[in-house]
Amino acid sequence: MIQNIKNVNYLNLMKHDFSIELFIHSNNVANIAMKIADEMNFSADEKQQLYEEALYHDIGKSKIPELILYKRGKLSPEELEIMKHHAIYSQELYLSMVDNNDYSILKAKTIRHHHENCDGSGYPDKIMGEDIPLHSRIIRIADIFDAITQPRVYRPFCIENPLKTMESMEDKAIDSYIFRKSYHLLEKLLMNQK
Ligand SMILES: [Fe+2]
Ligand SMILES: [Fe+2]
Repeated sequence: MIQNIKNVNYLNLMKHDFSIELFIHSNNVANIAMKIADEMNFSADEKQQLYEEALYHDIGKSKIPELILYKRGKLSPEELEIMKHHAIYSQELYLSMVDNNDYSILKAKTIRHHHENCDGSGYPDKIMGEDIPLHSRIIRIADIFDAITQPRVYRPFCIENPLKTMESMEDKAIDSYIFRKSYHLLEKLLMNQK
């Protein structure tokens, strides 16, 4: 049974029910995104923005029923549609937690688009390529890397060769330029996990 953390004051993240697994995942994605940002020579301000976006990217999962979120088998098409809605919930919840200004609206937009694919096959808006905000494309890579290198409730083992798996996603799910820039650091992260 996944234990819920409630009302822990961690940058507002825990004002919503959030499992330990999601808490760890959000931290991992934010930390990996910071390393990618270094490879891309982001300024301190831009890193700060990306960190927050990455930390909150899945906060909308707190609105997804646990039966779907932690289902061990394959999701039905209906369940999958409910699951996909977390990206929009994340955008809405983030905006409900912060002062609404141009800056926070921009961050919320990054959060909304963290599951868009470069080839337009992602969600929620099926936008493609450079129409997807740069920060969303970075989070997509950090998110996939964490998802396939950490065991999950629905998949209690790690994927055999994560970087090969990600190579097969280049220019489909993930931005090839950012992935290539991040390749060595992802390799290093994998070495450290062993
Ligand atoms: Fe997500
Ligand atoms: Fe995620």
